[in-house]
Order: sequence, then structure tokens, then C-alpha cells
Amino acid sequence: MTETQKSATLTLNGESYELPIFSPTAGPDVVDIRKLYAQAGVFTYDPGFTSTASCDSTITYIDGDKGELLHRGYPIDQLASKSHYLEVCYLLLYGELPTAAQLEDFETRVTRHTMVHEQMHNFFRGFRRDAHPMATLVGVVGAMSAFYHDSLDVSDPWQREVAAVRLIAKLPTIAAMAYKYSVGQPFVYPRNDLDYAANFLHMCFSVPAEEYHVNPILSRAMDRILTLHADHEQNASTSTVRLASSSGANPFACIAAGIACLWGPAHGGANQACLEMLKEIGTVDRIPEYIARAKDKNDPFRLMGFGHRVYKNTDPRAKVLKQSADEVLELLGVEDNPLLQVAKELEQTALNDPYFIEKKLFPNVDFYSGIILEAMGFPTSMFTPIFALSRTVGWISQWKEMIADPQNKIGRPRQLYLGETKRDYVDIEQR
Ligand code: CMC
Repeated sequence: MTETQKSATLTLNGESYELPIFSPTAGPDVVDIRKLYAQAGVFTYDPGFTSTASCDSTITYIDGDKGELLHRGYPIDQLASKSHYLEVCYLLLYGELPTAAQLEDFETRVTRHTMVHEQMHNFFRGFRRDAHPMATLVGVVGAMSAFYHDSLDVSDPWQREVAAVRLIAKLPTIAAMAYKYSVGQPFVYPRNDLDYAANFLHMCFSVPAEEYHVNPILSRAMDRILTLHADHEQNASTSTVRLASSSGANPFACIAAGIACLWGPAHGGANQACLEMLKEIGTVDRIPEYIARAKDKNDPFRLMGFGHRVYKNTDPRAKVLKQSADEVLELLGVEDNPLLQVAKELEQTALNDPYFIEKKLFPNVDFYSGIILEAMGFPTSMFTPIFALSRTVGWISQWKEMIADPQNKIGRPRQLYLGETKRDYVDIEQR
């Protein structure tokens, strides 16, 4: 972060305050208001953080107008087509693409941590079978702090490293266990001879009664979904992880907080909500009715899988996934599925509608990921857990970056208080 020669002047009640300006390596300049309260006695007001940089970071950069997403400088479309999930994990965690030896070592470390403590099986059994897998995931990931005591000390870099690898390695196992538990099938142990994505499909879809072969096109599509969701700078769940960890909370508790935030339908829950919306629409002839509802100010309904806080031109992840969706649907021979007909028609109708054009609303990553996961055989309730397992590396990379930063302070936003001013307590018989 370099302080520029530029500064902003704030004039308040006849006094002027000079606010330093920082220049990022990419993106808009940032006005430093850290000393504003001490000097001028005022706060800034920005609900939803629409104009506030909450931290500095070197991990991910998004240019919402260009529709560009870079991890450590590498464009997401290049990573999605030339790299693979674990290599992207390494890049996010350590800042550079690995050499062959570094990648092999990292893959071995992750693979060696894929099993969960056997006693965790009992922990799963405490949940109702019909619990949403996200509820199970929040609980079990939080409970990892009760099982892995040797990686809780956040002041120890080695323990932080072990916690990071454990989380990346065990999230697919835990997500698959949540799924198996919900359908009443036995848990399937990880297989270290399979790659990360193939192993996840194996743990979800194989059963002891018969042999299961992972289709390489499906595992490639799965790997791509994971890669495309790996990180997305300071979104709601990542900011939640950072805020939770700013108090010094342990990594498993912080990632559980991120999973809880991701679950909401405006964030990671959108992939499930999108598929449910497509099912509710049901047939192509009902699309105009739903488009009209999405445009009606008095109706809270929104087209799920459309729009984004940052991307105002195109979601680069959606572009890549659209192509994967076509490949997977063709492979599975389900291109004529009525749900997909609705999806395709809805996409075209919205993209040509003046309301969506004017508000810059277009399909986001969740529109296509849901379609692919549905075709692969995942129930809608598993869509958000899959998002959570892929985003774990982003959360943990941002967490590591934050803990290692000497400027790290507890997060403590201020407020614009609009409640009653001080008043005296009134005894109950006088109210
Ligand atoms: N359908 C209809 N209208 C919409 C939609 C939508 N999906 N999204 C935004 N709008 C309208 C909104 O009503 C508002 O109109 P007006 O200016 O007239 O009040 C305008 O567009 C701006 O919306 P906003 O809510 O101020 O925008 P935001 O940046 O706060 O919200 C969003 C971004 C993603 C939460 C929102 O677009 C949305 O709710 N989309 C549906 C949920 C979804 O697909 N979420 C996944 C996001 S991508 C994955 C992830 O990051 O987790």
C-alpha cells in the first residue's frame, strides 16, 4: 500500500481536514479515514459497505465494470481452463503458482488429511436426518475446534498452516457425510488415489453394494465449479470470517461463521433458491409472469441467479460455467429436460428485457452451477454446501493474510444512532 502525493480535503464546520489517499495496484484510489474521528469527531456512514475498503489484501481482484476476476493476478478463465482446484488453492494460500514439486507436496499434505476423526461420526448422528446439510456443516465445522486441539493457537504460524490444510482437506468429507446422512446411506471414506473433485463425487455417490466409477467429464466439471468459487475477495461470508477472526477466535469457529453467512439466499444460498425458482416456474409459458413479478416494486420476488453487487457487466465465472453446463448436459443426455428449457428461455428473456438491461442484471455463477449440480444428481440442498467447500480455501487464505498482518485490529464498526436519547426508567405501574 503506497501513500500517494494526493489527498482529499474534508471541510466541516469551517475546518479543513486532509485525508491521505492510497493507490492500489489495481482499482480505485482509497481515501484513508482512520484518523477522521480522532481529528474531526465524525464517523462515516456506509451501510452494506458499498464504498468502503475494509482491509488491504493481495489475494483477489475484481473489476466489476470489466467483468474481470483475478487470483494473485491470474484471470479466472485461464485458471479454470488450464489449472485445477488444488493448484488454485496453493496459489491463493501462498501467492504463487507452485512448481511441480511444491504441488506434489501440497497435494500429499491435503490428501493425508481427508479423513475426519472417527468420533465425528457420532456427532453427525445427533442431527435429525432431515436437517439441511448447511445446518450440519455449520455445526460440524464449528465442532472441529473440539477435535483438533493442536491447530487452535492462531499466534503459531505452524498451527495456522495445519488448520488451513485440515479445513481444505476435510470439508469435502464433511459435506459428503452431511449428504449421506440426509439420505440414510452409510458414510463413505475418502480415497487417496482419486483427485480432489473425483474423491468428493466418490464420497457422495458410491455405495458399498456396488462399484462406482467417477466419470472424468463429471469430475472435471466438479473441479471447475470448485475452482470458480474458490475466492471472491471481501464478499459477505469472507468479511464475516475476517470479522470473526479479528477477535482471535480459532479458525474452525471462524470458518463456521463464514458458512453460516454463505447460507443466505442473497449469497451462496442463491444456487438452491435459483433451482427452486426454476422448478416453481415449471414451464416456459409461465416465464412472463415471473419476469413481471421480478420487476414489480411491490413484490419482494427477485430472479434468483441474476444480479451482483460488484459485477455490472458480466460475471466471468458464469461465462465459464455456461460452457461446462453445456458439456455436462450433453454428456448426460439431458439437454431437453424441461427445467433446462425454462432456464435457457428465462436467461434469454431477462437478457433482452429493458428492466434487466438498465439495472445491469445478468446471470451470475449461481444460475449455471445449480443447473450442472442438478444434472449430476445432487439434491438442491447440497448446492450451497458445495459452494461452502470450494470457498473454504478463499476464507482460510484471507484469514491467514489477516492474522499475519501486524496492523490486524479487532473489527468494530460504528453506527448512526437513531434511537431514544437518555431518559429515566418508568416504574411498571406508571406505564
Ligand atoms: N431480480 C430483480 N431485480 C433485481 C435483482 C434480481 N435478481 N437484483 C437486483 N435487482 C434490482 C433491485 O430491485 C434494485 O432495483 P431498484 O434500484 O429499482 O431498487 C436494483 O436491481 C439494485 O439491486 P440491489 O439489491 O440494490 O443490489 P445489490 O448490489 O445490493 O444486490 C444481489 C446484489 C446479488 C444481492 C442482488 O442482485 C440479488 O438479490 N440477486 C439475487 C440473488 C443472487 O442471485 N445472489 C447470488 C449472487 S452471486 C454469488 C454470491 O456472491 O454469493
